[in-house]
This record gives sequence, structure tokens and C-alpha cells, in this order.
Amino acid sequence: MNLFPNTIVFPARTLTGAGVIARLLAECVGFGRRGIIVHGHSLVKHGVLARILQATPAGCQVKSWEHTGGEPTLKDLDCLLTFAREHRADWVAGVGGGSVLDLAKACAGLYLAAETPLKYHQGAPLETRGIPFIAAPTTAGTGSEATINSVLTDPDTRVKKSIRDPMLIARLVLLDPDLLAHCPKSVIAHSGMDAFTQAVEAYTSRHASWMSDTFALKGVELIAANLEAVYREGTIEQCQGLLAGSYLAGLGFSMGRLGVVHGLAHPLGFRYHVPHGLVCGVCLPYAIELNRDAMGVKYESLSRAIGADLLTWTLRMLECLQMASPFKGKAIIEKATIIKETLPAWSTQANPKPITPQDVEWLLSRLF
Ligand SMILES: [Fe+2]
Repeated sequence: MNLFPNTIVFPARTLTGAGVIARLLAECVGFGRRGIIVHGHSLVKHGVLARILQATPAGCQVKSWEHTGGEPTLKDLDCLLTFAREHRADWVAGVGGGSVLDLAKACAGLYLAAETPLKYHQGAPLETRGIPFIAAPTTAGTGSEATINSVLTDPDTRVKKSIRDPMLIARLVLLDPDLLAHCPKSVIAHSGMDAFTQAVEAYTSRHASWMSDTFALKGVELIAANLEAVYREGTIEQCQGLLAGSYLAGLGFSMGRLGVVHGLAHPLGFRYHVPHGLVCGVCLPYAIELNRDAMGVKYESLSRAIGADLLTWTLRMLECLQMASPFKGKAIIEKATIIKETLPAWSTQANPKPITPQDVEWLLSRLF
């Protein structure tokens, strides 16, 4: 196994601890006096945005932009870019879940780009660095704060994929467990199982290295140790543990990539409008079965990190989090297209067992 991945990219600086979000704007001033905070509705509802804005340093001009919810699209990004450019922003901060962070990240990254977002979504390389991106996750799940990806959907073609470039990496991350306090239980469950799946897939990926393994395995351990407690209303320490696990899973899959669960999750989630973490969570046990032999001794390492057999623990956790397949009993829409989209995916290509059309068909037969 390789020691390192081909490219090592970390967020430049990460601040951790309860209450650290209060320092957001004081830290952002270092990047310039004009900025945008991208957020979801819950940040307004629970008064967190007001508290952040109250601490605006003198002479700073900060505007907020609310993502209306749902999977972020290229159209959302176009609107946000126009808003940020009109404000002549020096930086873009995302305070929210994965969708909010992905939008803010793409906005900052493409702020100075010559082409439209569609060109980069279609694979054109970024030719210039954008403006600083600052990330503060309010869910413990996607790991977006630690990655170079922004997952966006093209509303015209319905293609959901990542704009991926090392220049998209956050300049500053704030991991504040207090931000999980207002996260609904279902979101804790779905995003937690997304993070767990990401950590397991990164650890067992064909592109794994010592470095990605180190982050991913610690991520597995922390998520397994804290997810159930946080779901049932955990302590600040348990929230911090889950947030750290999600962050480490993000670093792990940035370096080691993912597997077939994530390859299948995009085409499936998009067609059925099912939350990403729910698709990942319910698909994971079948992917573990499929990959059991190819995982080799790593299966035992994962079980040791969790403190229980990997497959048994995963099934028990899904039950405890009340996560059942949302596809059971439904008809499979566009089965051939789903299979066609899953096979060449960046994640599927990293799966420990080389994935055949029959494997995807088997996974679908278990889920539906
Ligand atoms: Fe994911």
C-alpha cells in the first residue's frame, strides 16, 4: 500500500471547540472586509445567524444568502455568484449542512472563473484560484468542510456530480459542536450514516494509502462511538466526537476516494428525491456483503475500531436510527440508466471489488 495519496490537500486552518462559531467574523476579517454568509433556514430560525451578525467587526460589510433547501443546483450557484459579485465579496463562508457548504465552496472557488459553472460541472479544469472559502458545518455528515468537492445538480440534464479541484479547499474550518444542537434527529441519523459510509468506503478503497487509512479508521471509531448518543441527545463531548469523526471521514475520502455506495447513491437519490445519507446508510450493509472478500483483513480492523462486527453493528445502528430502505416495494425507475451511471462513477471505480452490471443489479434488487 502507498504511504501517501498522489495529492495531499488539507484545509489551511481548523478551529475546534464549543462556541468557536462566535469567532467567525473576527476570523473572516483577515480575508477582507466584505463577505457573504451562505446558510439554511434553520440558522435564522434558531437565532444563530443573528448572533453571528451581531459580532460583525466595525467597517465590515457582511451579507447573508439563504439556500432555500434541497439538493443544490447549478441554478442556485448562478444566483449566489451574482449576489456575491454584486456585493464585491472578499470571501464566502458557509454555515450549514452539506448543501450549504457545497454551494458556498463552489461560489468562492468560481468567483473569478472565466467560464460559467456549467463548464466546470462538465469537467473543464479551473484556471484560477477564487476567493477564500470558510466552512462551519451544522451537521456531522458530508465532510464537505474537509474536501475539494462541491456536489451540484444540473437542473436541465438532471446530472448530479462534483466540481472537484484542490483550489476549492477551505481556508478556514470551524468545528463547533454547539451547532449540532438544533439539528433534527432524522438529519443526525442520515448525515451520521453518510459519514460512517464515507469512512468505511475510504478505508477499503482501492486507492487507500497509509495516510487516508489513518484518518478514515479514526473517523469510523469516533462516529461509531458517538452517533447513537448524539441521536438520543448527546453531550457536547459526544457532539464534538461525531463532528470530528465526520471531518476525519471527509479527509479520508478526499485522499482515498469512496466506493460503490456513493457511486449508486447519486443516480438513485436524484431520481427518488431521497436524502443522500439515507440512501448511503441503507445501501451500506449490502455493499459490505458484496465487498466482504475484497476487504480482506480490513474487515477485522474496522470491526476492532467499532468494537463489534462491522455488518452486525451497521444493521443494528440502522434499526436504532429508524432507517429503512425508502425504496422497498417501489418500481425501479430507469434501471438500465442507473446501472450505466453507477459503473463509471469516480466512487465506483475505487470500490475494493471491481463492480459489474450484475453487482449493481443485485444491490438494486436488495434495496427495492
Ligand atoms: Fe456521502
